[in-house]
Amino acid sequence: MSTYQDVLNQLNKKPETWLITGVAGFIGSNLLETLLRNNQRVVGLDNFSTGYAHNLDQVKAAVTPEQWQQFTLIKGDIRDRNTCRQACNSISYVLHQAALGSVPRSIVDPFNTHDNNISGFLNMLIAARDTGVKRFVYAASSSTYGDHPDLPKVEDNIGKPLSPYAVTKLVNELYAQVFATNYGFESIGLRYFNVFGPRQDPNGSYAAVIPKWIAAMISNTPTVINGDGETSRDFCYIDNTVQANILAAVAGKGATNQVYNVAVGERTSLNQLFELIRAGLEKYYPHLKELKPLYQQFRAGDIKHSWADISKAKNLLKYSPSHSISAGIEQTLAWYTKNSIS
Ligand SMILES: NC(=O)c1ccc[n+]([C@@H]2O[C@H](COP(=O)([O-])OP(=O)(O)OC[C@H]3O[C@@H](n4cnc5c(N)ncnc54)[C@H](O)[C@@H]3O)[C@@H](O)[C@H]2O)c1
Repeated sequence: MSTYQDVLNQLNKKPETWLITGVAGFIGSNLLETLLRNNQRVVGLDNFSTGYAHNLDQVKAAVTPEQWQQFTLIKGDIRDRNTCRQACNSISYVLHQAALGSVPRSIVDPFNTHDNNISGFLNMLIAARDTGVKRFVYAASSSTYGDHPDLPKVEDNIGKPLSPYAVTKLVNELYAQVFATNYGFESIGLRYFNVFGPRQDPNGSYAAVIPKWIAAMISNTPTVINGDGETSRDFCYIDNTVQANILAAVAGKGATNQVYNVAVGERTSLNQLFELIRAGLEKYYPHLKELKPLYQQFRAGDIKHSWADISKAKNLLKYSPSHSISAGIEQTLAWYTKNSIS
């Protein structure tokens, strides 16, 4: 089994054709950048519901014109079966990211979350099976642990889902499993734990905590903590998530038809996270020295603690996170301070 760098070297020697759904989103655009930098051919599919053309413009600026020419964009929706089939045509590896994220959004609008995340997922599975895709890697979620009390979270021990979003991500895993059993179709689910990094959207009521707080601190608006700040998460820098996807795509058969935690294995409370970001930004914005958070009520549907055991991904995928939370935050702050937040 190869290390991540070995895998990238092999791919550079023998380029493959990849499909990234949700390519204009945060994780999708970072996957695109890494694959193009490594001379792969990439088809991207996105309906731009939560993704942005400017994310793709930034990737274009980061790669060579020759690498950018290896990218084909399909503007379309995974809820349309023909679009999924067209997108999967002649693809070796699918990295399926398209979905409506956010627990609170799913509580407000369960139908749309279901439609995009379950019907869209099933369309993609069928299209990938029927077009003979070699491997289907999909974005699962730590929300699948639901109300299970154990820490750290181990893949086999899940509880009951706490939100419609968590239901959709659990159903994805169940569909992937029955496609393996009934059709011999190979997939790997990656349960992401709070991914963060460049290009994550800081705007809107469903923004993730890290870009939201960075934007609030930079623009001098209150930094809100839901709850007492002792809620904890295993925050995972985007480069680690990209690595897990690429390793999962090429992993041996024995690693397939399973799910893996993708995180760092570090537990950080929201109070600690606040201090990490505040202190990191202070060197750019000295007025943040005295900043205190504004505490508000806990949010419905949120898990109190989330912390991953990542030994399965380490053992079977040779996953080895390159960035701790503090190293990731440093990169992220440097990026957000260079790229104006509007
Ligand atoms: N960011 C995290 O911390 C995190 C954690 C766990 C799981 N995930 C999962 O990872 C994936 C990517 O998340 P992200 O943070 O990059 O979110 P994002 O919102 O930035 O990206 C999602 C992309 O999918 C596209 N999309 C949504 N519905 C679509 C549809 N019906 N057809 C075509 N495109 C569609 C959006 O326009 C967007 O570009 C999602 O499946 C999400 O549930 C993310």
